[in-house]
Amino acid sequence: MKHLIAPSVLSCDFANMQRDIEMINESNADWFHIDVMDGVFVPNISFGFPILKAIKKHAKKTIDVHLMIVNPDQYIEEFANSGADIITVHYEACPHLHRTIQLIHSFGMKAGVALNPHTDVSVLNSIISDIDMVLIMSVNPGFGGQKFIENAIKKVADAKQLIEKSGSKAIIEVDGGVNLDTGSRLVEAGAQVLVAGSFVFNSEKPSDTITALKNM
Ligand code: DX5
Ligand code: ZN
Repeated sequence: MKHLIAPSVLSCDFANMQRDIEMINESNADWFHIDVMDGVFVPNISFGFPILKAIKKHAKKTIDVHLMIVNPDQYIEEFANSGADIITVHYEACPHLHRTIQLIHSFGMKAGVALNPHTDVSVLNSIISDIDMVLIMSVNPGFGGQKFIENAIKKVADAKQLIEKSGSKAIIEVDGGVNLDTGSRLVEAGAQVLVAGSFVFNSEKPSDTITALKNM
């Protein structure tokens, strides 16, 4: 499969959100990546349901929600009602991860599991067959515009191996510090979805940057 591009709305101009959503609609991007932060699991607060619902009203592509929050279970239903197609929770935030995955699936959404830079891929051994996506964090979650952590390349290869060995249908997404250099190396290692925030929105022509990432 040709890799997918998921621009992170976190880096868009919040005062011109509709304009930036239309840009993504008309671009070669595949998904909308939505970063929800609670100020507890990560040292930053982003946005919640009202913003997601406003995005959903205009977005014409898959809504990929990345939850950087503790106790995600109590909000899964509201995320489903707010328009999420895929929900990714953090391994480090879920003591009952299998239950959380079942809950996400019970609302007809796809379920992903994200791993912080310090968390080894092997922790997914017993859950890999139950999930639709592995999200390898290539920065410490919480902020856009951080420097890519090189070890993520090896983790993508590890995830690919685990998926092949287990017969899982999960796909591999990578989030943080993605640009044309890191992006092409990630795709080579087996990444199938690239999230890109600041590289897209800080560029002169974001839709051209999306095309460049797609055509790598
Ligand atoms: C970081 C978020 C990312 C962020 C990526 O916690 O999960 O999705 O927006 O931003 P860049 O591409 O600028 O690293
Ligand atoms: Zn993210």
